Amino acid sequence: YPPNLQMEESSVLRRANCRAKGGAPGFKVAILGAAGGIGQPLSMLMKINPLVSVLHLYDVVNSPGVTADISHMDTGAVVRGFLGQPQLESALTGMDLVIIPAGVPRKPGMTRDDLFNINAGIVRTLCEGIAKCCPKAIVNLISNPVNSTVPIAAEVFKKAGTFDPKRLLGVTMLDVVRAKTFVAEVLGLDPREVDVPVVGGHAGVTILPLLSQVKPPCSFTPQETEYLTNRIQNGGTEVVEAKAGTGSATLSMAYAAVKFADACLRGLRGDAGVVECSFVASEVTELPFFASKVRLGRTGAEEIFQLGPLNEYERVGLEKAKKELAASIAKGISFIRK
Ligand code: NAD
Ligand code: LMR
Repeated sequence: YPPNLQMEESSVLRRANCRAKGGAPGFKVAILGAAGGIGQPLSMLMKINPLVSVLHLYDVVNSPGVTADISHMDTGAVVRGFLGQPQLESALTGMDLVIIPAGVPRKPGMTRDDLFNINAGIVRTLCEGIAKCCPKAIVNLISNPVNSTVPIAAEVFKKAGTFDPKRLLGVTMLDVVRAKTFVAEVLGLDPREVDVPVVGGHAGVTILPLLSQVKPPCSFTPQETEYLTNRIQNGGTEVVEAKAGTGSATLSMAYAAVKFADACLRGLRGDAGVVECSFVASEVTELPFFASKVRLGRTGAEEIFQLGPLNEYERVGLEKAKKELAASIAKGISFIRK
């Protein structure tokens, strides 16, 4: 498995040549956890992305079925499947972008931090593979708790001597997607016309929407501010409860992950002005990691933007966010250093 590698390789070359003639670059993308609730729709959407020439689908279960299914889609990307730890290195070798939605999701009553014990080890193993096989790849880390898994990944890369802070990006795009949706509802606008920076991290009070910076410029009553902030901070829990024990957000997350991955690929291609929010190594606050707007370029997060002017409500929220974030970051770092 895959059944006829030789034929597949020649097909990759043929398509790569075809793209070269048209001047279109194609990137090699791996999805780790590709058979999961997020992984499957994410794999499908990445197969449709015209910037992807090769798509590697890795999981510890069910990746052959998902790969066979997705490989029949008549889009440009060539799909290969990889099953289990012995195939991790083949899945990663030569990749430009690695997206990681591997790990267990929440059930009602759990916090994202309750996933730490299982997901920390999964992320460590996968990042050790990245450090060995594709140390220059951009990494989009989705597995929760993001506030701790990104520091874990950074420590693994530091240990291996491959850490490049520009290339490690925690995916907080779903918070932005939710913020745009909920703010647009209140304003009576199309969500596509709305911009809402969401900074801090990806859990509860660490998710800090900057409603004073919404575009188009607008103002909210104190009740609207309270409602929107709570709804955005608890969007994940809203889905976990509605799914009643069967998992957390998968479809909106796959959509958000593809939006973010596409922005990374456009940056890699050299497009100007690609700016999205992400949880990255940062000097925006005193914390070593923080989510804010970043400019994505050929080498990853090339510029990290300051938060801009905050109102009193946001300043109070920022202090609460930093307190919880500091503990989650420290927990991630000590998992590797201990
Ligand atoms: P899921 O259980 O449906 O899928 C997870 C997949 O990971 C499974 O297919 C499983 O086999 C695979 N997996 C487990 N261990 C692995 C390993 N060592 N290597 C490779 N694959 C492995 O879960 P899901 O709903 O897809 O969620 C995945 C993760 O994403 C969870 O941790 C969840 O909390 C997180 N998540 C993050 C965000 C975000 O905004 N960052 C949003 C939603 C979910
Ligand atoms: C989300 O925000 O939907 C994810 O982090 C999943 C979760 O556990 O809430």
